[in-house]
Amino acid sequence: MPGPKRKILVTSALPYANGPIHIGHLVEYIQTDIWVRFQKMCGHDCIYICADDAHGTPIMLKAQQEGITPEQLISQVGSEHEKDFSDFHIQFDNYHSTHSEENRAHATKIYERLRDNGHITTKMVVDLYDPQDKVFLPDRFVKGECPKCYAKDQYGDNCEVCGNTYTPADLINPYSSVSGATPIKKENLHYFFTLNDFKDMLHEWIESTSLQPEITNKLQEWFNAGLRDWDISRDAPYFGFEIPDAPGKYFYVWLDAPVGYMASLQQYCDRTGKEFDAYWKVGSDHEVHHFIGKDIAYFHMLFWPAMLHGANYRTPTAVYCHGFLTVDGQKMSKSRGTFIKARTYLDYLNPEYLRYYFAAKLGPDVSDIDLSLNDFRQRVNSDVVGKLVNIASRCSGFIQKHFEGRLTSDFIAGSQQIFDEAVSTNEHIKQLYESRHYSQAMRAIMNHADATNQVIDAHKPWDLAKSEAKMEQVQQVCSFGLNMYRLLIGYLKPVMPELAEKSEAFLNTETCWNDLASGKPLPEGHRIKIFKPLITRIEQQRIEKMIEDSKQDEITSISDPIMDEVIFDDFAKLDFRIAKIIQAEHVEGADKLLKLTLDLGEPTGNIQRTVFAGIKSAYAPDEIEGRLTVVVANLAPRKMRFGTSEGMVLAAGPGGKDIFLLQPDSGATPGMRVK
Ligand code: 2FM
Ligand code: ZN
Repeated sequence: MPGPKRKILVTSALPYANGPIHIGHLVEYIQTDIWVRFQKMCGHDCIYICADDAHGTPIMLKAQQEGITPEQLISQVGSEHEKDFSDFHIQFDNYHSTHSEENRAHATKIYERLRDNGHITTKMVVDLYDPQDKVFLPDRFVKGECPKCYAKDQYGDNCEVCGNTYTPADLINPYSSVSGATPIKKENLHYFFTLNDFKDMLHEWIESTSLQPEITNKLQEWFNAGLRDWDISRDAPYFGFEIPDAPGKYFYVWLDAPVGYMASLQQYCDRTGKEFDAYWKVGSDHEVHHFIGKDIAYFHMLFWPAMLHGANYRTPTAVYCHGFLTVDGQKMSKSRGTFIKARTYLDYLNPEYLRYYFAAKLGPDVSDIDLSLNDFRQRVNSDVVGKLVNIASRCSGFIQKHFEGRLTSDFIAGSQQIFDEAVSTNEHIKQLYESRHYSQAMRAIMNHADATNQVIDAHKPWDLAKSEAKMEQVQQVCSFGLNMYRLLIGYLKPVMPELAEKSEAFLNTETCWNDLASGKPLPEGHRIKIFKPLITRIEQQRIEKMIEDSKQDEITSISDPIMDEVIFDDFAKLDFRIAKIIQAEHVEGADKLLKLTLDLGEPTGNIQRTVFAGIKSAYAPDEIEGRLTVVVANLAPRKMRFGTSEGMVLAAGPGGKDIFLLQPDSGATPGMRVK
């Protein structure tokens, strides 16, 4: 019997509006979408909400680089995101943006309530300031060592290695990623959310919410370290919402990002007439489930519930964290072609392959999952094509040819039990979906597919059909097979909705979970439609092409507009000289740089210059020692993190291995002016 109808709000983390969706993102959206489709299939009132996370410095700077406004950027990226999601069958009930009036209203309301309830404070903070570019450096533009675990090259807001959050001023050996200069310290007023006010409340919330054990441990660590006030203001220029009572100060992107869940729901409610408060009021009987990556647990398990509570809203029912995606056991990599954009994947492969593969790998824990490309091909081909769809393709022809497409509900001897067992596991499979044990659910479904194929193999309808006297058995075996197919494809519907839809059309029926649980086969004489191939095997070549294509992504940027015009007189001020690379060295701790010692030749009085050049990916030091290059000889020295660079070498190329130090024709000698 179906239980009571639950009212469930589900969210996935909001993707940043400054870049494309890639397969790493898709782990989460596919995981969530499967859960939502499953809930809907069970008849619950479940809505899936998301939005683009549109604020913050990286977006502002990306727009600048592209020569467009942040609004143009987020609108363009937002449309691409929506298209990518939709093509992966990620079915949001509403998709919005954090740069929206709904979000401004909700973020402001939450801030004002927190302030009025005494949870906002101000403090003078020593910020880092780029003395070269004369700006306060936003968190993401200061890098350095994590003050807690000492990991190098961490951003100024949180450590990707240990998950610790801090302010840029806490970093050890900070450097500006804009100019490379060492930032100086300068006082600045900041607004803070007093997280520690919520210590007891958070403890209670955590105890009453079933969390993943790894997350419980992490939370314990964070509690032990003490809940520090959270800096929620950033200085202009900033792309975001101005703090209502603090001109020139903006909400830090992470303050209004989770509020985006509310904003998107608000837009949905305004569109459908549903009641927003029913979801978010204190004491609501509706459920709120957030799916996120483990890297943003701090924001969702401390700041967000505390903000909600402090602003008189209910707290989430559950927050589920997943791990990261690796490809062939390694971090996704642009140069290896494994940093695969959703769009590139879609250009070569069926999205349902990836949905199935992720489902076959996903459990409820936070461990990372690996997309092993060989395993991906073999698994999908073997399970989906070889085991499951094969049932339909091998049974349907006989039913069409000999029985005008009509099934019998009288199954071949001994097979009813297999059907009944598959029906009775529906409750188990349901529990597996509910608790996000998708890999176990996939295994259970495929075990039933194996059992089905064994029955078909044992009875060999292709042999039976040779004898007129055995035609009844042919119909019984194939009807059993097609009823099993209907059941199993029904169980798989949350994962492979398109395959399920095509299968339902072919089987001439529709299914919801209760139909599957009823155990009733399709009625006697039910007529199926003509079978058309439902899904094809993954070809190795398609995967290879996708990888090749992804390698190209690194070298083709979407748009790279021409910079502002310079007059000839300015250009003529640049003194380009041929220089000889007399020494090239690796720079400790620098991923991209080589340190070059250049000899500018006799005409300059054999001046030597030290230049740091980002060419390490293309050249080994000994390859270029003794070779000629072109240098801008009169560029003012720039202090960088690793030393002072006294000029700049000219190189061209898309990057990676392909960076070409410009070589002069033979006959060039060091010191010659290049015109
Ligand atoms: O980490 C991220 O990609 C963020 N854009 C997630 C935000 S989730 C929510 F809080 F908005
Ligand atoms: Zn750290």
